[in-house]
Amino acid sequence: MSASSKLPQSVAWTLETFQGQPELRQAGDKLGAGVRADWKSLRLPDGANSLRAQPLGRAAGKDIRTAVDATAGLGYDTYALALLGVEVLALERNAKVFALLAAELARAQNDEQLRAVAARISIEHVSAHQRLPTLRARGALTLPSFTARGFVLPDMILLDPMFGGQRGAAKPSKEIQALCATVGADLDADALLDMAIAAATQRVVVKRARLAPPLAARAPNWTIKGKLLRFDVYRGGAG
Ligand SMILES: C[S@@+](CC[C@H](N)C(=O)[O-])C[C@H]1O[C@@H](n2cnc3c(N)ncnc32)[C@H](O)[C@@H]1O
Repeated sequence: MSASSKLPQSVAWTLETFQGQPELRQAGDKLGAGVRADWKSLRLPDGANSLRAQPLGRAAGKDIRTAVDATAGLGYDTYALALLGVEVLALERNAKVFALLAAELARAQNDEQLRAVAARISIEHVSAHQRLPTLRARGALTLPSFTARGFVLPDMILLDPMFGGQRGAAKPSKEIQALCATVGADLDADALLDMAIAAATQRVVVKRARLAPPLAARAPNWTIKGKLLRFDVYRGGAG
């Protein structure tokens, strides 16, 4: 079965605005009941400490200070990395998904609880296929510690392309359905692996469904397994 045939089938989701906030809605959804990013819904009772013990935190390791989340989606992993103290540049190519990501970042920047973490995040509406190869050439990472501490290239690059319908348990299924229907399978994702390895100084982390084949059929250097997901880790080639 191909990746795309595993995607949940559903009627179109349209990008609508309610009370100034964008949301993805299906026919019949009430105003305000559409899908948005909601970083506060990540249940982390002990904040960064909870995260460090989770697979993403373990895959990132302790020494990562700068990262590019090359397939940002609704930004949950971006937010999680930022909560760990990492400065993150998040890339998203789908215009509808980017609208939700941008709205959530703006919301977080105005939220007392999230503001400090949000300050470590910047976002770009761009394809990682185009942006990753420019990181070295342009040295164009503008987050404070990328520049102030002389980092030209990120310590870590995270890849989480759409593979099929299976996602992590942290997000409600309505979000997953909306993402699958809006984005489809990222069938061109294999090419990102070499680009990411070339641009990351320490590691590339690829989030996969537990039983999915490795990205680009390339065996990782090591793997961290979660209940539904696994994180394949590759050594960065730009160190
Ligand atoms: C599975 S979602 C990511 C979910 C995300 N990790 C989160 O925590 O919310 C994959 C996203 O990557 C985006 N994407 C896939 N390939 C991309 C590329 N080459 N450049 C930028 N975004 C990409 C898709 O549009 C989709 O929104």
